[in-house]
Amino acid sequence: MKALILVGGYGTRLRPLTLSSPKPLVEFCNKPIVLHQIEALAKAGVTHVILAVSYHAEKLEEELNVYAKQLGIKISATYESEPLGTAGPIALSKKVLEEEVISELSNGDDDSLFFVLNSDIICDYPFKELLQFHKEHKKEGTIVVTKVGDPSKYGVVVFQENGKIDKFVEKPKDFVSNKINAGLYIFTHKIFDRIEVRKTSIETEVFPLMADEEELFAFTLKGFWMDVGQPPDYLDGMCLYLKHLLKNFPSALVPESVQIPASAKLIEPVLLDPTCTIGENCCIGPNVTIGPGCKVEDGVRIQRSAILRGTVVRSHSWIHSSIIGWKCNVGRWARIDNVTVMGEDVQVRDELYINGGRILPHKEIKESIPQPSIIM
Ligand code: GDD
Ligand code: MG
Repeated sequence: MKALILVGGYGTRLRPLTLSSPKPLVEFCNKPIVLHQIEALAKAGVTHVILAVSYHAEKLEEELNVYAKQLGIKISATYESEPLGTAGPIALSKKVLEEEVISELSNGDDDSLFFVLNSDIICDYPFKELLQFHKEHKKEGTIVVTKVGDPSKYGVVVFQENGKIDKFVEKPKDFVSNKINAGLYIFTHKIFDRIEVRKTSIETEVFPLMADEEELFAFTLKGFWMDVGQPPDYLDGMCLYLKHLLKNFPSALVPESVQIPASAKLIEPVLLDPTCTIGENCCIGPNVTIGPGCKVEDGVRIQRSAILRGTVVRSHSWIHSSIIGWKCNVGRWARIDNVTVMGEDVQVRDELYINGGRILPHKEIKESIPQPSIIM
């Protein structure tokens, strides 16, 4: 089976991280965001993943092919010279998806089904159950749905007890329901008759019609879900994912190879890369991820934050609700708070206070940033 991942645009909402790396390759809990999805797809029997990209296609394909080899699957990319929205890329990939479908047909698999995913979704992906559910109702498409507190920034779905969708409304102004499109779908190749290679929104131009024709079903997700495409949601998603690891795979969190000094304290859940180091008298957690090669010096306090690869956190600094990008240096006694996001190679001098700063790559910060602001 195949899967198409809508990798899309420049990931502007995840800047400044996406100034150094395409969004799907930005690490979430020490793994490229899209790799969480690709691994789950491979586990569910997907053998070919197509990335629908509108920039950096080669870089993505090249980096992800290393993982493709490890997982024993194929990863390829389709490149849009102009962004085609969320449906256009499906039409653009028609040839690849159909070719494969035909060869599958000749292999005796008559399903001709494929998955489509938004690339910024984190959950306990239910691909096998989704496939099973879809095969039972036999219509054109199934959308995974989840429940959220504020549905206004999502696609809202109204459906019956058996899952048949009556109505799909993208980003409604008035309350319709709190069940939303989780950004994971399965379709039959009949969907190709509905879309062309031009900029098209699947949410506003395709789903409402499919619902009217009774061709769209909803599959309710169990467990956590988050769209991690913006920094506050990235941090919320990180908390949910770490809670999930703690409950289901606790041994994945703190590798035995990491030396934790007796004077240091970890408050669960904390996810450490095997190659990071933790100093004396630190207090780390809850909800912290520390990436490969990071060095956390003595007496550091970190809560609800992600420290990406190669960063040094100097002694006695205090980090809360923030994302520290790759190869940064956080000075001694620094205080970092309120969804500060540092791009690659940011140097923060000793004793500074940073409140909600979005700091572009390669900056040296010499003064405190007392109010949320973008530092160019
Ligand atoms: N290839 C390609 N080309 N991909 C695109 C393009 C494009 O022109 N535009 C957007 N995408 C990709 C994005 O990278 C993302 O993976 C996905 O399509 C959805 O776009 P977002 O920009 O993240 O949309 P959203 O988060 O506002 O809303 C969508 O996701 C919600 C769930 O998080 C919608 O599908 C909602 O209905 C849904 O509830
Ligand atoms: Mg999104």
